[in-house]
Amino acid sequence: MEQTFIMIKPDGVQRGLVGEIISRFEKKGFYLKGLKLINVERSFAEKHYADLSAKPFFNGLVEYIISGPVIAMVWQGKNVVITGRKIIGATNPAESAPGTIRGDFAIDIGRNVIHGSDSVESARKEIALWFPECPFNWQSCLHPWIYE
Ligand code: GTP
Ligand code: MG
Repeated sequence: MEQTFIMIKPDGVQRGLVGEIISRFEKKGFYLKGLKLINVERSFAEKHYADLSAKPFFNGLVEYIISGPVIAMVWQGKNVVITGRKIIGATNPAESAPGTIRGDFAIDIGRNVIHGSDSVESARKEIALWFPECPFNWQSCLHPWIYE
């Protein structure tokens, strides 16, 4: 089944939003397949955001991501990439709808609490980068209560 890479950024960890964010993905019905609290190095953050290296905000973005521990996660479920992006909300919290994570908990685009893969292909690359040990493979007993 489809998997996505979700990262709670340093502001989300510092602000005590970890439980709230995990809860939203769990309650939706997605399965947690990997989780770790880590401080990433500059070169690693640059690799994760390599597609944005030409953007004027790139250095600030990298400084932000390495400013404290992050929670790296793999979530699994039907359409989890696109649905995960909907749960997260628009990139700029000024445009994220209330009820989304960024809409409820963020104000500035440069402190938008959480990252989610933007396509199945990016998810595959990001999971390989962040979880070289491979996501944990367990089966939830809830499956028949969530899927028809
Ligand atoms: P991620 O899930 O973090 O990848 O966000 P996204 O996919 O919604 O947006 P994108 O990949 O385009 O940008 C990555 C991150 O860079 C955003 O989440 C913001 O933290 C930051 N960012 C994007 N655009 C801007 C900007 O115009 N200014 C600043 N300061 N940061 C930005
Ligand atoms: Mg992105």
